[in-house]
This record gives sequence, C-alpha cells and structure tokens, in this order.
Amino acid sequence: MNREADGGQDASPTEGGKKPLGRVYLVGAGPGDPGLMTLKGKGLLECADVVIYDALVSPTILNMIHPRAEKINAGKRRGRHSMMQEETTQLLIDQAQEHAIVVRLKGGDPFMFGRGGEEMEELVKAGISVEVVPGITSGIAAPAYAGIPLTHRLYSSSVTFVTGHETAGKYRPAINWHAIAHGSETIVIYMGIHNLPYIVEQLTTSGLSLETPIALVRWGTRPDQEELTGQLGTIVEQVEATGFAAPAIVVIGAVVRMHKENSGVRSQESGVGSQLGNSVGLASE
Ligand SMILES: C[S@@+](CC[C@H](N)C(=O)[O-])C[C@H]1O[C@@H](n2cnc3c(N)ncnc32)[C@H](O)[C@@H]1O
Repeated sequence: MNREADGGQDASPTEGGKKPLGRVYLVGAGPGDPGLMTLKGKGLLECADVVIYDALVSPTILNMIHPRAEKINAGKRRGRHSMMQEETTQLLIDQAQEHAIVVRLKGGDPFMFGRGGEEMEELVKAGISVEVVPGITSGIAAPAYAGIPLTHRLYSSSVTFVTGHETAGKYRPAINWHAIAHGSETIVIYMGIHNLPYIVEQLTTSGLSLETPIALVRWGTRPDQEELTGQLGTIVEQVEATGFAAPAIVVIGAVVRMHKENSGVRSQESGVGSQLGNSVGLASE
C-alpha cells in the first residue's frame, strides 16, 4: 500500500526558498538472503539521499546503498544501545525536511511486527509523504528455506502469524492462545523463543496434542540457518539441551512433517542465493 499525506510533493526548493518535504520509503530488506531483496527496494537504496537502517543489517545489503547517501544506524546512536521508537520517528521526520528520498530500511517486511505501521502513522500525521515497499517476511521465507510449506492441500488450508513477545498492555489484551490453537492448521510465531515454555503450555492446555509437530528456524535464509524440529511435548527440553536461541521463526502444525521429506530443499545453497553473499541481520527478541 502506498499512502501519501497532503504534504507529499517533490523536494525542489519553493519560490520562498523553503524546502518542501521529501518522501519516506519504508522498505523491507527481506529476511537475510540478499537475493530476496526486491528490485524496487534495491533501486531505492541506489538513489536514496539517506538510509536509516535497523541494527544488524548486513554489509551486503548496506553495500547496495549509493556511496553518496548518508547511512544512519537506528540501532546505535549517541553511544546508546538503540534508539527509542519516538526518536527514530522524529529522525525520519527531520530527515524528510532535509532530503528528497529518505529510506527507512527494515528486516523482513516493514508491516510484519516491524513497527512500520506506527512509523507510517506518525509520518502521515506530520504531513510527510510515505511509500511502503514490502519485503519478504521471515515468517514465510524461513520455513520455505527449511522445506516447510505453510499450506498444503493435504495438511493445512489456513495459517496464523502471531508474535510470541507481546504482553497485555494499555491498548490491547494479551494474546488469546486458546483462539490461536484452534484458529488455523498452521501457526507461525515471530519472537517466540524466549517465551516458548509459556506458549507451549498455553497451546497444549488449550487442546493441541503433545505430539503436534513443531520446527524452529534460526537465521532463516542466511548461510548459517539452523533448524530444530520436534513435538510440542519435547521442544522445550530440546531447546534447553541444544542452546537453540533467537532470532527464530516457530512453525507449528502438520506441515512441519514435510521438513524431513524436503531436507534436500535449501534455497540458499542452490546457486543464485549463495553467490550473493551474506545477509541482513535482525532485531532479536
Ligand atoms: C521484530 S520482528 C521483525 C520481523 C520482520 N519485520 C519480518 O517481517 O520478518 C523480529 C523477529 O522476526 C523473526 N525473524 C526475522 N528474521 C528472521 C530470520 N532470518 N530467521 C528467523 N527468524 C527471523 C524472529 O522471530 C525475530 O525475533
């Protein structure tokens, strides 16, 4: 979706000398494999005036940025670990006063658990033109690179994407895991490793069998992708035993059985992807 506020114009100076606002592009960098960056996103990196990127974006993607562009790491500023969300949004607004093409580069897809929606809202409120360039989200790509189709005519006709990180807050109630357990045949969880014992407990007390297949895919689509498969009844112990850590995508449901059958499917080893080098990192949990 592209959304423009009334303030979106081209950025040439007006007669009064005051610069009109530039445009902010919320660009998805994909899950890691640089071959999964969209052509549109790459084109924008090549012509951006400034790129504000998330922590851990790999050198390979950053190398796509034109050398004359300013690069700002939103993960590190003024010696601090990471910018607060409000600071990042303000930075985008300030940059759009100065530059015609401002790229906000995010891992995966900007609107999938990436706070892209919040940034878009604030920018539009500030009268700044915004365009969204979707990226391939890790919730789809990581299972795919692990040989797990999220839907399959025999096993699953529905998928739920959910965050495992969210707690109940001021604006919304906690995730209804009972509804998630019964809502679809495949469940894909972002940021689910830290809370995995709680999530497994919620899903099994809601009626999912302890034998339900589950897969964890870490650093999906990168050369160092790791996978761990098991069942709801065993996975927490397996994670403890192996030290399997975030960032990872969790897939639950019968489709996970395809992982073994498709163990020969590793897109990043198939040629094109592997020739493109290293990949984008991510905000971990
Ligand atoms: C803040 S969310 C951002 C998601 C991102 N916007 C997307 O569309 O993929 C970060 C979480 O996404 C998941 N994630 C992102 N990239 C991943 C990858 N390459 N492999 C596995 N999980 C990934 C992990 O669950 C991680 O903790």
